[in-house]
Parts: sequence; structure tokens; C-alpha cells
Amino acid sequence: MKQDLWINGEGVGTGQYSELVSPYGQSKIAEVAVAEEEQVKSAVAAAQSAFEKMKKMPAHQRAEILDKVAGMIEKDKEECAKIIAREASKPMKAARAEVDRTIMTYKFAAIEARKIYGETIPMDAAPGGEGRMGYTVKEPLGVIAAITPFNFPMNLVAHKVGPAIAAGNAVVLKPATQTPLSSYKIAQYFHEAGLPAGALNVITGSGKKIGGILISDERIKMVTFTGSPSVGQWIRENSGLKRVTLELGSNSAVVVDEDSDLNEVVPRIVTGAFSYQGQVCISVQRVFVHESLYEEFVEKIKDETKKLKIGSPLEDDTDVSAMISKDDVKRAKEWIDSAVAKGAELAAGGEVNDEILEPTVLLNVPLDEKVSCAEVFAPVVHINAFKSFDEAIEMVNDSDYGLQAGVFTKDVQKAFKAANELHVGGVMINEIPTFRVDQMPYGGVKLSGMGREGIKYAVEEMLELKLVSFKL
Ligand code: SIN
Repeated sequence: MKQDLWINGEGVGTGQYSELVSPYGQSKIAEVAVAEEEQVKSAVAAAQSAFEKMKKMPAHQRAEILDKVAGMIEKDKEECAKIIAREASKPMKAARAEVDRTIMTYKFAAIEARKIYGETIPMDAAPGGEGRMGYTVKEPLGVIAAITPFNFPMNLVAHKVGPAIAAGNAVVLKPATQTPLSSYKIAQYFHEAGLPAGALNVITGSGKKIGGILISDERIKMVTFTGSPSVGQWIRENSGLKRVTLELGSNSAVVVDEDSDLNEVVPRIVTGAFSYQGQVCISVQRVFVHESLYEEFVEKIKDETKKLKIGSPLEDDTDVSAMISKDDVKRAKEWIDSAVAKGAELAAGGEVNDEILEPTVLLNVPLDEKVSCAEVFAPVVHINAFKSFDEAIEMVNDSDYGLQAGVFTKDVQKAFKAANELHVGGVMINEIPTFRVDQMPYGGVKLSGMGREGIKYAVEEMLELKLVSFKL
């Protein structure tokens, strides 16, 4: 299969195509067009010209387009899940769940498209404001550059494209190099749903090259990015006065307090640590367990981890498959080995078989080891004991990141203490940090980024507030 770029409502060929292979088994899936500067510029021009139509399109029409896209994905659920499974090596169970969430995300975007309103301003509240009526309106920004990651190739695209269209903007989308096919499929759905040509363009090729052109183009009014902190920082430093939303990584933690029911908690933590091979920004990476439960917790997590089935992403019962690249397997393995060399104990996994890193549980990792203090983005979790709840909160906060954190406790005072004191974008009480439904605000503090996604919140970031003052 040969995949062209998608610019101004049609496929555009280029002089160069790169081979896309599945991370599991390395079989060839497609040849994907590599954009040159000229094509990136023409995608921006197409978006700018389509914006003239988008900004005049009534809200109900934008909502109908988004609802239609949700309906089309619903109809092709299994096909969409297979695209994700193949290009991202995401096990079908997780890929189907992602497709279900994508449908919800576009449905929420349709709802939010109908709810964009301003407010009246009491102008006479200040001396000199008498005899005036003030009100605000919210207007679309213009062309938005969306740069998306490999780990949720449909739903994290939906979290950028959905609100952008809901707000009446036009988009140039640059998906991750490893997972372009989901984005091209989505562009096709929008086209069939009646989105004006040029309102959604998809370009693929070198991330840094395309990203560099997009963020320096004056016609782009906002950059919305999900990915690594280093790229996020580079975008922030090179985007001039553009609005920027950055959804970056984390080394998410969960606290298991002394009154926790381990039969309930341990399976959730295993899901949070190993779903999609731990390649989720809010994967459980650090577990802090009250010392009175530590031994029992370790035995239970070993048993639960052993139940995971490793294999092809296309098999219905696979839980864990190949990571996105061999380089990432190598990096994660080096971090595990380094922690073990510094005294950590391997309770499960730790080996690479057929290029798949086994789900790995480490005990008593020194907290300055990379496998704890950096984002591992791999099926690796570590467990350390704590004595007091205060100490546990301190350990969670002792991180360069702050996306989401989880706390299991039946003590409501401690729950509120955690909610108040954890320095993160979202606190999940009696839940793993990996919990997300798509309408909730989502984003982080510190190296985890800036701005919020979650449709309503993303729509707000993609609108400009205008004040009208009417002298009567
Ligand atoms: C992410 O990896 O940032 C997204 C997690 C999710 O949507 O569940």
C-alpha cells in the first residue's frame, strides 16, 4: 500500500516514500510519503484558505461533521483497531478500547462545538464605564499545527483535531512517523463527512524538519503537541508568540495505603503498568506501598504479572506485545540493568525475548535511578515501601514530572490531604494514575507540560476572546 500526503482534500504524492514496518515481526505495512518543505507550506496555505470557510461555518454544521465522523468510526471499529494494532503494535484489546474512546472524543467535540459562548460584562462596575454594554465573543484562532505521538494514534489525534474543528479552526496534522495510517484514515472520514477541503491536512516525514517549518510559519497561530519534554521545550522556545499546548510525559506514581484491599488494587496496578507495554504518559511507573502490606503486595503483583499473555498484537488474548522500536527496548533494558547493578531486586521479567521486553517488576530501586526518576515508557514498574503517609506524598512529589497520581486509601482525611498536596495535573483517589475519560481536563505541571486537553478545555485553548464595548 502506498500512502500519499493529504493536502487540500486530496492525496498528494512526493518524490520520496519511506517503508513503514510493524514493530512486531517487522513486516512491511505501507510506503508512506515523505513531505518536502514545499508540501508543508502548501498544507499550511490550504489550511489558511479553508479557515475562511471554517470561521463562517455555523456551529451546528461543525457539530454534525464531528458526529458523522464518530458514526463512521463506529461502523468501521474493527478495521480501525487493526490499523492501530499493526502500526503501533498495540494489542487488539487495547486498540479496540482506543477506538471506543476515539468515538467518544469526537462525540464530546460535537457537543462542545454547540456550547461556545461569551458573557456580558458589567461595564458600569468601574467609574467611567456607565452607559456602555460590554460582551465577549470567542473566535477561532486560525490554522493550528497538531503534532501527535505514536502511543494513541487515533485518540490523541482526536484530542487535537476534534476541538480544533469544534472551535472552527483549520488544522495541519503531523502524526508520529511510526503511526501515520490512523491519521490518514481519520482525514478520509472528515472528507466524507463534508469538512471543507484544506480544513484538515495530514503530512508525514521527518518530525524535526516538518515541526521546524510549522512552528516557524507565521500563518500558524497555535501549536498543540504531545510527546517528549525535550521536543516540547524545543517547540516552546521556537514558536515565537504562537499559543502552545504541551502534553508531555511523566513517571506517574501510585500510593497504596495500609487499609487497601490488595485483591482490588493489585490487578488495577498491573493494568496501569503494563497496558500497551507501559507506553502511556500516565502508566504506573512508581508504586509506594505501606510497609505493613509490602510483602503481600509483592507476592500478589508477581502472580498477577505472570498471568499476562505476551505475543502478537493481532491476537485477541494478547496483553503485552512489542515496544515501538528496538532502540526503546535497548534503552529500557539498560535502565533496568543499571537499577539492578545499584541494588534493586528483580521480582519479575527483566529479559528480552524475541525482541519483546517482558513485563518487569523491580523492588527497592534507588530513587535516583533512571528507571524511577526519568520517564521509562516501557513495561517496567518499581515498588518501594513507605512508613508514613506524609513520606509517601513526598516521594510522589519528588519528581521532575507532574501529570497524574493515584492514591488508594479508605481514610477520607488522607484522601483530601493527597488531593491538596500532590503537585500534579490530576489526582485519582482510589484509582491508578492511568485513569482517563476523555471529557476530563488532562495535562500536567513541571516537565509534564502546559495547558489542558479534555475537549471542553482544549476548545477554550483554541479560541480567542474578543470584547465588544457598546456605547449606548
Ligand atoms: C497519554 O499517553 O498521554 C494519553 C493517555 C490516555 O489518553 O489514556
